[in-house]
Amino acid sequence: MQVKLGQSVLEIVEGDLTRQDTDALVNAANPSLRGGGGVDGAIHRAGGPKILEECLQIGGCPTGEARLTTGGNLKARYVIHTVGPVYKDGSHGEPQLLASCYRESLKLASAKGIKTVAFPSISTGAYGYPLKEAARIALQTVKEYLAQHPEITLVRFVLFEKTAYEEYEEALKSV
Ligand code: APR
Repeated sequence: MQVKLGQSVLEIVEGDLTRQDTDALVNAANPSLRGGGGVDGAIHRAGGPKILEECLQIGGCPTGEARLTTGGNLKARYVIHTVGPVYKDGSHGEPQLLASCYRESLKLASAKGIKTVAFPSISTGAYGYPLKEAARIALQTVKEYLAQHPEITLVRFVLFEKTAYEEYEEALKSV
């Protein structure tokens, strides 16, 4: 599913983030930037050791912020590592921190001249963020950013499970 927002395209697909050929992939990392399971594990496995080398030089990333490394062996030239909030009950700043992940990742992309970006569904796996609410925040934040930043020509959400794709498809209709 795709929507046109001015010069930019916002699309959602079902698939594997690590196989995307956008300029950058966004990783759902943890504050240590030392790798993990889920998307994080898949990106490091597919991208190779150069990504971790640069992550270790960076040293870490606070929740809600984003850091850039090489894409290593990935088709994508860059990986933007962002750290989502661990979901507690929604009243500990989780919505604001999740929105910040998307906004800070795109700000980094704009600063680097990156035009096409693929995102996973941040925080909705190990970090337990409820999918419906996370999808709404993700799409709303990206839509607001693209309205001001035509330099980003494509944002693609890559959902690993059909259930996630369906939630994002539903949310996209109402943002
Ligand atoms: N492509 C696209 N999406 C994927 C992939 C993949 N290859 N693998 C997993 N996902 C999906 C999950 O199904 C989930 O919907 O990405 C979403 C985010 O899940 P996680 O990877 O668990 O990320 P998150 O919930 O943000 O938790 C981050 O998990 O892997 C560790 O080091 C990471 O500690 C950090 C935590």
